[in-house]
Amino acid sequence: MTTDDIEAALAVRAPAFDGLPDDPPAPPPEARPRAADWWQTRTRHLIETGEGACVVAEDDREDDGGAGGVIGFATSLQRDDLWCLATFAVLPDRHGAGIGRALLDAVDPGGRAMLSSSVHPGAMRTYHRRGFRLTPMMRLEGTLDRRGLPAVTGVREGSPADLDLLDAVDRRVRGAARRIDHRLMLDAGHRLLVVDSGTRAGYASIDGDALEVLAATDEDTAADLMRTVLAEGPGSAWVPHVSGANSWAVAVGLDAGLLPRTTGYLATRGMAPPVPYVHHGSLL
Ligand SMILES: CC(C)(COP(=O)(O)OP(=O)(O)OC[C@H]1O[C@@H](n2cnc3c(N)ncnc32)[C@H](O)[C@@H]1OP(=O)(O)O)[C@@H](O)C(=O)NCCC(=O)NCCS
Repeated sequence: MTTDDIEAALAVRAPAFDGLPDDPPAPPPEARPRAADWWQTRTRHLIETGEGACVVAEDDREDDGGAGGVIGFATSLQRDDLWCLATFAVLPDRHGAGIGRALLDAVDPGGRAMLSSSVHPGAMRTYHRRGFRLTPMMRLEGTLDRRGLPAVTGVREGSPADLDLLDAVDRRVRGAARRIDHRLMLDAGHRLLVVDSGTRAGYASIDGDALEVLAATDEDTAADLMRTVLAEGPGSAWVPHVSGANSWAVAVGLDAGLLPRTTGYLATRGMAPPVPYVHHGSLL
């Protein structure tokens, strides 16, 4: 896959993910105005950094829905010994013909791995067959009750000067640093919050008002970071990608008036679901 394929991949991604069964509707577009642009920026980053394979499946048939020959694709990233699948999709009228399996055969190096699985039956079967374990995942959403957000101390604004701290927390929580992805998020204008008080450390990356990823040395620090993000955000809040292993996040959300909704699965292979952690949907 090259950066020239990104537009064609986007044309596969949209119909593939549209109307997945039991997937709660995503927040309205105005709540995530940069979603498509940000996906393209991330995909370009994955292709250009080249650490982890990104491939397309092409068909030279004329009647393939105008996707420019691309009928499926998989993008991925390798960070230290951890492999993550970022996006994986095949045009709906080509499902079940082995294209997905061939795409994953091309990108999956085996070993320690993590991905955020949709509820599509083909996706869940594919990951199961490749040795992944599925942990249910939730999205917390609703109208914030700020009385459930106690005052927090020790959280400060972060900057590129904190990247060593982020590396240390990532290695501890997920066994792999990913400095290039943090740089990408900072360059894209994401806000960084950090806790760095010797024994306690953690970070949260926020895109607009939405929490993108959070990791910490302990649950109290993680909860303080999440409470800060919620307290400074709008009255209508949502926190995606909370795996069932992270009940501390569900508790913070419930205290603040949010409700959990099941949205898919965190799939892990050769590792337990990271805690305390709110993973990124595609950079994991
Ligand atoms: C997931 C996806 C990429 C798989 O692509 P695909 O080309 O259909 O995959 P394959 O043909 O290799 O099938 C993989 C497995 O899923 C099964 N499968 C595919 N579609 C299925 C369906 N609708 N119902 C049940 N099983 C299905 C296949 O039988 C196969 O299982 P097997 O290994 O036991 O034979 C594709 O279904 C898709 O684009 N889904 C929507 C987007 C999505 O959810 N992407 C994953 C994001 S995490």
